[in-house]
Amino acid sequence: MGFVPTMGNLHRGHMSLVRLATERADRTVVSIFVNPTQFGEGEDLDDYPRTPRKDLRKLQEAGVDAAFLPAPREIYPDSFSTWVDVKGLTEGLCGRYRPGHFRGVTTVCAVLFGIVRPHFAVFGRKDAQQLAVIRRMTTDLRMGIEVVAGPLVREPDGLAISSRNGYLSPEQRRQAAAISRGLRRAAEMAAAGSRDAAALEGAVREAVAGQDKLRLQYVSLVDPETMEPMSMLDRTGLLAAAVYAGDTRLIDNVMIEPAPKRKNGR
Ligand code: PAF
Repeated sequence: MGFVPTMGNLHRGHMSLVRLATERADRTVVSIFVNPTQFGEGEDLDDYPRTPRKDLRKLQEAGVDAAFLPAPREIYPDSFSTWVDVKGLTEGLCGRYRPGHFRGVTTVCAVLFGIVRPHFAVFGRKDAQQLAVIRRMTTDLRMGIEVVAGPLVREPDGLAISSRNGYLSPEQRRQAAAISRGLRRAAEMAAAGSRDAAALEGAVREAVAGQDKLRLQYVSLVDPETMEPMSMLDRTGLLAAAVYAGDTRLIDNVMIEPAPKRKNGR
């Protein structure tokens, strides 16, 4: 049994995760639950787009066997008292700016895993820190659930697909493509031999700084498993960024490989 947990408003990104699950599994379950505990104060819990009818139609067309749309009380009854908190790798990147966010994510996923009891669960690579945190949780708690990474799907101009893209004004939407341009530029610099984290991060800083509607929250080169900052690209790294366009927070990332070392000092 394969499982894809979502918060609904299903787009091409989600559907690629669903496809991955249906291809691998005999039975696929998708949950749609806008999880209140992973939203901070002042975040978009109330405004988060909810489109259950459309979502269910898409899931049916995709050959999903069951959709699970619990009410908040079903997940969090009054007696609910257990929280799952993964230390360390939740502290940097998004964790630094969204206190309690990952605790909400790991807790709801633990509950959903307990209800659905899948053999594997699919998480997208766009939320790279979430993916690493969930992997850590399933490993540490011996949940016996394989965590499968799904692709990061982009719009034709490179913008990572997200439900939150719907909040963007046309001008913000146009400028938001600069985020992935910066990440791509950093990957090209790495391929050409650049190893200095500050220089690679600088490519994203520069791309975003050129857009008056965007504000960089962070860009950081980290180890893809531990989320520890890397000062040099001496192995595969994850370059991750969070950017505000008005009140809308967008995240994106790219895996970066160091260029092979040249022989004979040339
Ligand atoms: O990635 C998401 O949509 C959510 O964080 C998840 C994994 C469904 C938990 O609420």
